[in-house]
Amino acid sequence: MKRRIHNIACIGAGYVGGPTMAVIADRCPDISVTVIDLNEDRIAAWNSEALPVYEPGLDEVVRRTRGRNLRFITQREGAAAVAAADAVFISVNTPTKTQGSGAGKASDLSYVEACARYIAEHAKGHTIVIEKSTMPVRAADTIKRILATTPHGGTFDVLSNPEFLAEGTAIRDLEQPDRVLIGGETPAAVDALAEVYAHWVPDQAILRTGLWSAELSKLAANAFLAQRVSSINAISALCEVTGAQVEEVAKVLGTDTRIGPKFLKASVGYGGSCFKKDLLSLVYLCEFYGLTEPAAYWQSVQDLNEWQKRRFAQMAAAHARKHGGIVAVLGLAFKKNTNDFRESPAIDICNHLLAAGVRLRLQDERVDPAAFRATLADEAKTGFAFFTDIEDAARGAGAILILTEWDSYAGLDWVKIAAAAEPGVAIFDGRKVADQVSAKKAGLPVFVVGQGESVPS
Ligand code: UDX
Ligand code: ADP
Repeated sequence: MKRRIHNIACIGAGYVGGPTMAVIADRCPDISVTVIDLNEDRIAAWNSEALPVYEPGLDEVVRRTRGRNLRFITQREGAAAVAAADAVFISVNTPTKTQGSGAGKASDLSYVEACARYIAEHAKGHTIVIEKSTMPVRAADTIKRILATTPHGGTFDVLSNPEFLAEGTAIRDLEQPDRVLIGGETPAAVDALAEVYAHWVPDQAILRTGLWSAELSKLAANAFLAQRVSSINAISALCEVTGAQVEEVAKVLGTDTRIGPKFLKASVGYGGSCFKKDLLSLVYLCEFYGLTEPAAYWQSVQDLNEWQKRRFAQMAAAHARKHGGIVAVLGLAFKKNTNDFRESPAIDICNHLLAAGVRLRLQDERVDPAAFRATLADEAKTGFAFFTDIEDAARGAGAILILTEWDSYAGLDWVKIAAAAEPGVAIFDGRKVADQVSAKKAGLPVFVVGQGESVPS
C-alpha cells in the first residue's frame, strides 16, 4: 500500500532535530512539522528570537517556517501531535553510557527507549518511526519491541535515517546533502520517507539500504572521518621533528583522487558530540561480537586524539611556566561557527594546563562562559577567568593558544596583543590561522601543529 507523509512529529529539539525539521518544513510547505522536547526552556528558546542553537542561516529558515508549517511544543503538549503524525522522528541524545554493562563505551539508549514508549502510548493508526539519532546496530529491534506494547492497536514501521550534517554548516548540509540514507524493511515506508526528501534532494542522492546497514553506516562514516583526522595528526607530530610541513604533505595526499583533499587538516585533535561517542560505540560493538582486533584498531583512533591534545597542552604549559605561568586560550568551541563545545579539545587542554599549574585566561566569541566553566575539573576552577576582549585575555600571558579556527583570529593584530602579554610570550596555533606576518612583526614565535622547526624554546 502506498503511504504518504502529511504530518511529521520529531521528538528532540537539539542540534540535529531543530535544524533538520526546520529545513524539512521549509522545503515541504505541504507537510506539517511539530518538534517536541522535554526541555521547556529549549522549546521557549525555539519559539523566541534567540534560538538555542547557533547555525549560519538557521534564523532565516526558522523565521520563514515557524507558525506556518513548523511549531515547537513541549512534551506535555506532544501527545496529540504524535497521534496525528504519519511519521515520528526520534532525534534525542544517545550519550556514552556511564553505568551498567558497556559503561564508558556503549551508547545509552534510555532516551530513545523513553521516546519509543511515548510513541507506543500515543500513536494512532499506522506510524512510521524514524531513527534520526545515531544508534548502535540493531537498535531498531529494541524500538520495535517497545512499540509492540502499544495499547491502541496501532501499527508501525521502523526506519533508520541517520543525519550526516556537520555543525557550523548544518543548513547547507541539509539543503544540499551528499546523500540521504534510508534503511528499512518495508518498501512502502522507505518510499514514503524518500518522497519527503524528494521535495529537494535528487533521487540519485537518496540511498536505500537495509536497516542494519543504515545504522552501521552512520557509525562507520564518523569513524572513517575521525580516522582521517587522527592519521594526519599522527603525521603532524612526525613533521614537527623532521622539519616537514604537514600542510604540504596533506596537499600531496589530497591530490590523489583515491584519498581526496577533505578532513586532512592537522589540528589540536577532533572534538564534537559525535566522533568520540561513535568510535567508542563501534569499539563496544566489535568487542560485543568478539572482534578484538577491529576493536583495538578503532580504539587507537581515539587514543591518538587524546595524545594529540595532551602533547599540545604539555608543550604550551612548559613554555608558559618559563614565562610567568599564565596561558591565554583563544577558542573554546570544537570548531568555528558553532557555540557547541561538547567534547571540544579545549576542555581537555584546559584541564591538562590547569593540572600543570598554570592559570588560564579564556576567550571565545560564541561559547557561554558559565557552561564551559562547568565542564572543567572541580579543583581547577580557581585558575580560570573568561574575557570577551582578546587583548584582555592575553594580558600577562606567557603562551597564547589558538584552539578554534574562528575567522576573527586570522586578522589579529599581534603587535597590540604582544604588548599586553608577558615578555617571551609565544603563540601555539593549533589550527594554523594566526597571521604569520603580523606575528613576526610583533617578534612572537609561533608554533603551528605539524609545522617542522616551529617549536619555541
Ligand atoms: C561530524 C560529521 O562530519 C557529521 O557528518 C556527523 O553527522 C556528525 O559528526 P561535526 O562533529 O559537526 O560533524 O563536525 P566535523 O566538521 O566533522 O568536525 C569534527 C571535528 O574534527 C572538529 O573538532 C574539527 O575541528 C575536527 N577536524 C575536522 C580536524 O581537526 N581536521 C579536519 O581536517 C577536519
Ligand atoms: P543532538 O545533538 O543529537 O541533537 P541534543 O542533546 O542537542 O542532541 O538534543 C537532544 C534533545 O532531545 C534535548 O533537547 C533533550 O531535551 C531532548 N530529549 C531527550 N529525551 C527526550 C524525550 N524522552 N522526550 C522529548 N525530548 C527528549
